[in-house]
Amino acid sequence: MSDDIKYGLAGVVTDDTAISKVMPETNSLTYRGYPVQDLATQADFEETAYLIWNGDLPTAPQLADFKTQEKAERGLSADLLAVIAKYNRDAHPMDTVRTSVSFLGQEDPETEDSSPEGLYTKSIRMLAKIPEMVAADYRHRKGLAPIGPDASLGFSENFFHMCFGEVPAPAVIKCFDISMTLYAEHSFNASTFAARVIASTTSDIYSAVTGAIGALKGPLHGGANEAVMHMLKEVGEPANAREWMLTALKEKRKIMGFGHRVYRSGDSRVPTMTDAFKAMVDIIDTPEAHKYWEMSRILDDTMVEAKGIYPNLDFPAGPAYYL
Ligand code: COA
Repeated sequence: MSDDIKYGLAGVVTDDTAISKVMPETNSLTYRGYPVQDLATQADFEETAYLIWNGDLPTAPQLADFKTQEKAERGLSADLLAVIAKYNRDAHPMDTVRTSVSFLGQEDPETEDSSPEGLYTKSIRMLAKIPEMVAADYRHRKGLAPIGPDASLGFSENFFHMCFGEVPAPAVIKCFDISMTLYAEHSFNASTFAARVIASTTSDIYSAVTGAIGALKGPLHGGANEAVMHMLKEVGEPANAREWMLTALKEKRKIMGFGHRVYRSGDSRVPTMTDAFKAMVDIIDTPEAHKYWEMSRILDDTMVEAKGIYPNLDFPAGPAYYL
């Protein structure tokens, strides 16, 4: 290896960000100065989105206005719904959402408006439309007709409504909302970096987000939460968990949901998401749900004991989403 080449961009600083701060020394993450744990438990996702885009938390009228704007941008075109209806039912959901965002970019007459106001409007547009893209595709793969948005529902409630035709208990909505806040921002992770490379060519924001979704799909990045669930299924039973982990480490397998490029002694988002995962286990309250909880505790303890590598956000988020 040449000393002149920064493999994997290790040690390369390309820009600064005012939006979030990752502090590995203290295992903390702030959005615009607010600790992410406080936002996840005390704010809802719309407030977090407003904070990230505007620099401070909204007043009550500002939040109401933001929610009205998001609701006004909901709804997919008949053309996009027809495209989703043609997707391969076995296609990976990240492939379909990437294609849907790209489609939105070619049908939006304002795609080329990269003024700050134009970018803000299109960001709200994507915030409002992407959940419906995911939900319509989810239903399509099950052979079900799409369900349109409901303007009486907030962001997270509306997502469940469009996926399942019903809104679950507020405690379930809260767990999902917590995950949305914890995933909302992480300074220069791989997908943000991909988006910024594209944006820096003065391409449009849909192209940047389409590229970012491609980067996010990878199991070494956002795809890890799905991979964690495949791992838990492979382990099968809590009684197998310790041995499974020790064997996998001996075989030099990469264990999904562990390790982090920046955090070396734990991911600040994990305790909050682990509480949300446990809340889901208790709400669902089936032997299967408790089994995944017990297995995850053993895998976590064994990995930390054997390697000193800690879980990242994807480790509790994968099974929480599954439940
Ligand atoms: N399972 C097993 N070993 C791991 C590991 C994991 N999840 N994460 C790191 N390691 C090992 C590496 O193999 C390396 O060992 P070596 O020195 O014997 O080669 C050592 O720990 C140092 O890790 P390093 O490769 O420097 O980490 P990185 O910064 O390059 O990679 C990740 C970070 C996130 C890509 C990596 O931890 C990983 O692939 N994790 C699994 C996927 C995942 O959960 N991604 C979501 C991230 S939020």
